[in-house]
Amino acid sequence: MVRMVDLIHKKQTKQALTASEIEAMIKGYTQGTIPDYQMAAFNMAVYFNGMNEEEVTQLTLAMAQSGDQIDLSAIEGIKVDKHSTGGVGDTTTLVVAPLVASCGVPVAKMSGRGLGHTGGTLDKLESIPGFSIEMSQDQFIDLVNQHHLAVAGQTGNLTPADKKLYALRDVTATVQSIPLIASSIMSKKIAAGSDAIVLDVKVGRGAFMKTLDQAEQLAHTMVQIGHLAKRKTLAVISNMDQPLGFAVGNALEVIEAVETLKNQGPKDLTELSVTLAGQMLFLAGAVDSVDQGMTKALEQLENGQALKQFKDFIEAQGGDAHFIEDYSLLGQASYQIPYRAKKSGQLSHWEADLVGEAAMVLGAGRATKEDQIDPQVGLILKAKVGDWVQEGDEIVTIYSNHEDVSEAVNRLDQALEIGGFVEERPLIYELIED
Ligand code: URA
Ligand code: CA
Repeated sequence: MVRMVDLIHKKQTKQALTASEIEAMIKGYTQGTIPDYQMAAFNMAVYFNGMNEEEVTQLTLAMAQSGDQIDLSAIEGIKVDKHSTGGVGDTTTLVVAPLVASCGVPVAKMSGRGLGHTGGTLDKLESIPGFSIEMSQDQFIDLVNQHHLAVAGQTGNLTPADKKLYALRDVTATVQSIPLIASSIMSKKIAAGSDAIVLDVKVGRGAFMKTLDQAEQLAHTMVQIGHLAKRKTLAVISNMDQPLGFAVGNALEVIEAVETLKNQGPKDLTELSVTLAGQMLFLAGAVDSVDQGMTKALEQLENGQALKQFKDFIEAQGGDAHFIEDYSLLGQASYQIPYRAKKSGQLSHWEADLVGEAAMVLGAGRATKEDQIDPQVGLILKAKVGDWVQEGDEIVTIYSNHEDVSEAVNRLDQALEIGGFVEERPLIYELIED
């Protein structure tokens, strides 16, 4: 009989837990026989003393097995999933999924709704008239077999241990722990059933990981978990000092994704999408190297195949794809209000978090789970870090359904810096394979 107090003590004194101890702990916590206060104490011990790779993998697997596990074996081919640790204006899934699928690689994407800046992938897609993410497991599998791509809401009881643990970490200051973050993310990916996983680990002022060193540690930990759990896994470390692309908001980001699929999107969004797609194509065995995958991905943007795949996917899930040629079909916010530069100079900083918050207070994201998303609202940035602006230039267009946008403006005032030191940072720092 495993006693939780002994496991807490073990971790407190930097000893490694065994697989069966970890399994018993997660089972007990999920079922409610281990109380929050003991789990909280354990998390704090992990926060300070860490876990080795074997432990963090066992923790991940125990969490993955705490609820339903999706069986995708009825889908032919190697299924590849992609996960981002969270950025502002990050529309890459809407680009990467059809891009990879257009090469014949199956993409079976289960997405969540998410809190914060803007909605998740599901909310963005639901800004398209008619588009539905409601379907049975069988319909989901049929769609992927027929169209190479489907996006569905998370059904059933996926990783209940993670839901409970995350809520507990949130109120006990134990979110910022690499083993706890890595196991939380990877448990959900493993339970979702893909054979291979590509991770986009964000680093910067707008990300969970503030330094490159932390981001590298998180990426290595997750890739190791993937390998030990027999999933092919790669990671990319990408910059999140400023928002990705120009659009922040649900329908606005859908338009930006379509522009990117037409090969006329923002440079940063295109570059990151091509890199992630290259990794996914490589893991799926469709190409012999990540470089070849990136070349292939770029070709699919240039020859229109990725866009064609996107249209097919939208229609297969009930959406009206005419908006691809006429964006006004997505509707428009009642007000488009310019936000202007207060002085001239080089734009030196765009704090991604605060830009995200500005979009959220307009209604593009949820502060609480119950909030409704307003699909049309958000921001279009007209200048990015490094650009020279003149006093009075419109540097953001605010899309709002309320005339008073002072809350958003306050945040933009704080997010923006003109005339400071411009740090040259790469968009993609490195690829992590082990
Ligand atoms: N995202 C997750 O899913 N879990 C974490 O712990 C942190 C970020
Ligand atoms: Ca964007």
